Amino acid sequence: MNVNGRHWRTLWPCAGATAFEVVDQRVLPHRWETVRIETVEAAAQAIRDMTVRGAPLIGVTAAYGLALQARADAADAALQAAATRLKEARPTAVNLAWAVDGALAALLAAPVASRAALAWQHAAALADDDVATNEAIGRHGLGLLDALARRKPAGQVLNVLTHCNAGWLATVDWGTALSPLYQAHAAGLAVHVWVDETRPRNQGASLTAWELQAAGVPCTLVADNAGGHLMQHGLVDAVIVGCDRVTRQGDVCNKIGTYLKALAAWDNQVPFYVAMPVSTFDGSLRDGLREIPIEHRSAREVTHLAGLSAQGELLEVQLVPEGTQAANPAFDVTPARLVTALITERGVLQASEEALQPLLTPAPG
Ligand code: MRU
Repeated sequence: MNVNGRHWRTLWPCAGATAFEVVDQRVLPHRWETVRIETVEAAAQAIRDMTVRGAPLIGVTAAYGLALQARADAADAALQAAATRLKEARPTAVNLAWAVDGALAALLAAPVASRAALAWQHAAALADDDVATNEAIGRHGLGLLDALARRKPAGQVLNVLTHCNAGWLATVDWGTALSPLYQAHAAGLAVHVWVDETRPRNQGASLTAWELQAAGVPCTLVADNAGGHLMQHGLVDAVIVGCDRVTRQGDVCNKIGTYLKALAAWDNQVPFYVAMPVSTFDGSLRDGLREIPIEHRSAREVTHLAGLSAQGELLEVQLVPEGTQAANPAFDVTPARLVTALITERGVLQASEEALQPLLTPAPG
């Protein structure tokens, strides 16, 4: 995506293959900073502290982290220990384990002397695949948006609500849920996006609103609680969200608060779409509610807010009385029955065990 007239990805390798760099998402939208990552520990830490975030991006970050480990020590045990550390950084998005396990299997099958170069190539290929995948998700999603727009009276804007950040910042480029919106805007479709702020970390307010504005896509930030009201008043034509894990029967795990949006969408007959790369499909699980591990993050994300002071400093303020107990489940599960369809790089699929069956096998070719 373009930032100040220059094309960026969220992550890129440094010359000499001794490090990679990422956009620091902790300081957006107020600062544009990048972080150089030189060790597997630093890669795991960047995932844990959400310097990088979003299911696809943490997977690619971990693959580069494993490549740094392969450069330092490519023996089986060292790689296996690094893979475990990376996978433990965040538990919910299956893309992380998927990327690490895929890279590890490829490395363990190769001679030790070739592993460092191979790991680097593997990570680069994963990054490129992510970009192509998200572009394809956007194309398939554009078809759905186009069909919805045709049902509206001529000249009316298509209003789409999104939650959290599933834009280019959550991936290597394009994003998942925002990819159809970028493509719709580029194709001349009149779209407007309602952006949920997405408490507690406010990825909608800090990242999605910034991304959409940078791309010139009309958008309006709303408090998380506003979505139901907007839908009741006919101001939302569709909801599109990303996801961190989708089970065999089509249950969708995404940022906390997604389920409430799905319930409101169901009650108001608003289509609820989930954009997902196939790498987010976890065919080993069936019942999302019982089987998907939900990350519980620090209570401080609930009790405190980060922002920009009037003097232009980044600061954090306390919202609550001293000693307030807070809980911070970071994801929730939306049952398949509330999902209108899944937008994947292989096309638009129903959220059902039968429709998702083909995802259990690799794509032909
Ligand atoms: O905790 P985060 O910010 O990593 O959560 C991100 C989300 O929930 C996204 O919707 C999801 O990862 C899909 S990203 C394309």
